[in-house]
Amino acid sequence: MNRPLTIALSKGRIYKDTLPLLEAAGIRPVDDPVTSRKLILDTNLEHVKVVVIRATDVPTFVERGVADLGVAGKDVLMEHGGDNLYEPLDLKIARCRMMTAGVVGAVEPEGRMRIATKYVRSAREYYASLGEQVEIIKLYGAMELAPLVGLADRIVDLVETGNTLKANGLEPLKEIAKISSRLVVNKAAMKLKNRQIKELIDALSAAIKE
Ligand code: ATP
Ligand code: PRP
Repeated sequence: MNRPLTIALSKGRIYKDTLPLLEAAGIRPVDDPVTSRKLILDTNLEHVKVVVIRATDVPTFVERGVADLGVAGKDVLMEHGGDNLYEPLDLKIARCRMMTAGVVGAVEPEGRMRIATKYVRSAREYYASLGEQVEIIKLYGAMELAPLVGLADRIVDLVETGNTLKANGLEPLKEIAKISSRLVVNKAAMKLKNRQIKELIDALSAAIKE
């Protein structure tokens, strides 16, 4: 028996938003990762499994071939670097924008700006593209706090409704990138399991909502 086709998803909004697309492609996980706490989910198809991992780990699993395919936010792919993966589909789910933000009305400081973010690579490339020298401060969460406590002048974070920024007295400033989730495929699997993967891509593609 061949190894099953393995799809890497992250818990939370990507899992929730990917389910209807998989369903349209005839794939239904048998267990719920939240209630079962299982990390490898069986599906209605014996030869298809779903692994549930951290969002930032999806590109690593797919690149190294332990998952054949996965779903990852463009933000995560921009940070990871996507050269070793195919990215055949924009699934148009988990849509938001990567933006700079700061305290409402705050003026740019003299000298180097301090930018707090978990998106170090994207932030560095963005400010470099403007020719601005900045100091990047890596955080793992609660970026909104940084300008409030004087740790940074700006943040780079994801913005959907803007409610999180607003609740913290911050305002969105410049858009760095439009973000949505992408289907990513391991390069070797694309060759070795071409027919199966191609069928899945076609079925997902037909189910994408604009
Ligand atoms: P982890 O699994 O490592 O905890 P996470 O907390 O970033 O990761 P989610 O919050 O579920 O996981 O985000 C997954 C993806 O969803 C992000 O990479 C991004 O592409 C997208 N996303 C994040 N926040 C929003 C949002 N407010 N609106 C829409 N899409 C979002
Ligand atoms: C994301 C992101 C922002 C927020 C933006 O956080 O990190 O904080 O959404 O959305 P909004 O503009 O609609 O307020 P999330 O809710 O996923 O929490 P997390 O950072 O803990 O994952």
